[in-house]
Amino acid sequence: MTNEQYYELIIPYRDALNLLMARLDVLNHSIYSTDMPKPIHNTQSRIKTKQSIEGKLQRKGMNGSVVCAKENLRDIAGIRVICYFVQDVELLADNLKGQGDLITIQERDYITNPKPNGYRSYHLILGIPVYYMERTEYYPVEVQIRTIAMDFWASMEHRICYKQERKDKEEIQATLKQYAQVLNGMEEGFRSLNEEEKGRSK
Ligand code: GTP
Ligand code: MG
Repeated sequence: MTNEQYYELIIPYRDALNLLMARLDVLNHSIYSTDMPKPIHNTQSRIKTKQSIEGKLQRKGMNGSVVCAKENLRDIAGIRVICYFVQDVELLADNLKGQGDLITIQERDYITNPKPNGYRSYHLILGIPVYYMERTEYYPVEVQIRTIAMDFWASMEHRICYKQERKDKEEIQATLKQYAQVLNGMEEGFRSLNEEEKGRSK
């Protein structure tokens, strides 16, 4: 695709991403009572670059046309939501899935069922309605909801080996998995400290 075609392609995906960011902001300040800490630590968002779109289509054995991208990629728009606790992740995910005008296109719960390498995260692909002058169109946005601990692990693992050819990949596998367990335990520790504190301040 040409640069011009790329810029035109991403316009509605950016619209859908902005609409969903606004909904997350609403949930962040309304999900708990106003005197309670908010569930979201931070959010990141991105629109896939032209190079990354073409690279992914190529890996799937497809041509890099606009039509092909629209039909086959559901992560052109992506949001990562980093929460404090697993309970925050579940509440946000359930709430988003329950918003009547959004379509849940795909749901992957890598928290209940972590990937074999230790990766944990809650993935949703949501269809977001974008209202234009005379038509409404749905665009997919990939949402990854995870805790700070899960994000630490995923960011490090991504840096070190995700989709990379590494000779010692097998050797470091056990170490990465062990780190995931350590972080999991630490997160659980923070959760119980937080629960104790909440109990005391009642
Ligand atoms: P992609 O083709 O990479 O988009 O993956 P997929 O279509 O199989 O979907 P999946 O839900 O498994 O992964 C989507 C995204 O989650 C990836 O693009 C990564 O950002 C993230 N992800 C999934 N698995 C891992 C992992 O093992 N490590 C890390 N660091 N990130 C992961
Ligand atoms: Mg992806």
